Amino acid sequence: MRQRLKRIQDRVTGLFKEWTARENLWMTGPVLAAAVLVLLVLVKSCQGIAFFSSDEYKLCRMGYPFKEAQTIAAALTDKQIDVLVGLGEMDTLACAIVTQPFFIGDNLERYLNCHKSDTTGIQPADIVAVVNVGADNNWQDLVPCDTTKGYLMLINRSHYLDSHFRNPNMVTFERDYAFGDRPKADTLVVSAYYQMRQACHQQTSAHLMVNSAYRSFKEQQDTHKQNSKRLAAKAGYSEHQTGMCLDIVSQEHLMKWEFGESTEGKWLRDHCHEYGFILRYPQGKERVTGYDYEPWHLRYVGKEAAQRIHDEGITLDEYYAFYIERETK
Ligand code: DAL
Ligand code: ZN
Repeated sequence: MRQRLKRIQDRVTGLFKEWTARENLWMTGPVLAAAVLVLLVLVKSCQGIAFFSSDEYKLCRMGYPFKEAQTIAAALTDKQIDVLVGLGEMDTLACAIVTQPFFIGDNLERYLNCHKSDTTGIQPADIVAVVNVGADNNWQDLVPCDTTKGYLMLINRSHYLDSHFRNPNMVTFERDYAFGDRPKADTLVVSAYYQMRQACHQQTSAHLMVNSAYRSFKEQQDTHKQNSKRLAAKAGYSEHQTGMCLDIVSQEHLMKWEFGESTEGKWLRDHCHEYGFILRYPQGKERVTGYDYEPWHLRYVGKEAAQRIHDEGITLDEYYAFYIERETK
């Protein structure tokens, strides 16, 4: 009898345990589900709150499409976003401007002002180039040339040389390689020119000739007086004073403009970087350089910079702003 009672007791205890276990399972499900739900709501709310205080949201409110807002927010610092938001109205080119390869964050406001005041349909790449080189304010901020940059020193409409600046390493060209009264130029520039001249002759059979090289401050004053201001720089603002640039034509094509379309003119445009030279005033970059296209004016910058300037299709002004000035700020 006792054993029977024990069996019944064990059976009841077993059933109770089973029921409790099931009950727990049944209880745990909803609790867990509720907890997950609360967590999800919390996460979503936090995300919502974060979005409403995000840069993307600020930009979307100004009218930028979400994708553009994301791109702009990723490209700019908080301070630059504030500048953009501070302008109050959306700029249709903002996204294209901030993703340009030569975009400089500090210039953001000037890019947008340049676009706003433009009446010519200027493209984002040109906006960035024009502003980077100071052409947007007509090169009003004058800066003394940093001559410590050597072959990379920049002389343009805003970077000027002292009237007393002299390059101490000058040599005279051999008589057969240059016109006029034995012009002079920097030693390294002259030897690079000889090598280039020889290669050009081998490949095109043309004879390159230097038409003008070093010009003193005084000579540049005369050149400036006698020529169009789109062709001749004011004294102090000409790189001819450094002895690092050459005006080159050929015996076969003496006419300067015609030279650009001659076989040797085209050869120079395609190969001069291999000898450390660049075409300093290229066609299509007049707004950036401030000068008309000069197919004859080559500037020596060394092979590394010349290669980069050639490959990236930029001018020395743009190269200097992006790779030299920006990196030393
Ligand atoms: N032709 C260039 C701009 C000069 O005069 O230096
Ligand atoms: Zn020149």
